[in-house]
Amino acid sequence: MPEFIRVADVSEVSDPGKLLVEVEGEVVALFHVEGCFYALDDVCTHDGGPLVDGELVGYKIACPRHGAKFDIRTGAALSMPAVRPTRAHAVKVDAGGVWVALGSGPGSTPGPNNQAADFRSYAPTNTAAAAAEAAPASTASADTPAAATATPAPGGATATATATGVDGVPSEEAVREWLKEVKDPELFVNIVDLGLIYGVALSPSADIPGKQHVSIDMTMTSPACPAGPQLIADTKRAVGSRESIAAVEVRIVMDPPWTPDRMTDDARDQLGIF
Ligand code: FES
Repeated sequence: MPEFIRVADVSEVSDPGKLLVEVEGEVVALFHVEGCFYALDDVCTHDGGPLVDGELVGYKIACPRHGAKFDIRTGAALSMPAVRPTRAHAVKVDAGGVWVALGSGPGSTPGPNNQAADFRSYAPTNTAAAAAEAAPASTASADTPAAATATPAPGGATATATATGVDGVPSEEAVREWLKEVKDPELFVNIVDLGLIYGVALSPSADIPGKQHVSIDMTMTSPACPAGPQLIADTKRAVGSRESIAAVEVRIVMDPPWTPDRMTDDARDQLGIF
């Protein structure tokens, strides 16, 4: 069993509130929400951001660096650019103090102690609440624009065959293949497989006869995505450099918001999500 270490007095952490504590040389973010305490590694799994400095809303903590959100009850990553959980720790309240045992919560690496300890201080209904709250983030309606783009575009020889349609006009499918050249600079996965492309529309150019105007509806993994300007520029370049294209218009669409379930299996493989 992990050893519980007293890290703070109960009165030190407001409700809701958070506190950075040290447990056996490791920095841990302690959270107090609706009478319960929770503890996570103070490390965002995207790029090491300090979670305790982020905004706490309900049971979600947002990384202050690029906006990834985590469930403080489980350590689960709820939004990009983080895709892996951060480690959660067991917490108990005893003798007016908050006690933490490292590496024994649900987001920790599975091990012999993982199931033994309760990761909450006291809150009998929290696990069910966590599941209910997580559900909307992973639900994709079949008729949303993103669902329509979730189907992986064909590659290789098939892509070549669909590159042009009637009279040399590129097909929407061909444009999606071109867009696979654009990769998220932080995740190194192309924007099509990430599910960022919500729509592609082609129409004859009014300015250059015989060429096409392309409109692309695209989203970002988070509203504050720092890679946004680069992704837009790369998208315009990947499509606009083609002989048959006169102009490219990119519209950023945040509704419906991007969620990890929009990724293709290829993207999941690349990110090591199973
Ligand atoms: S370091 Fe946390 S979202 Fe990038």
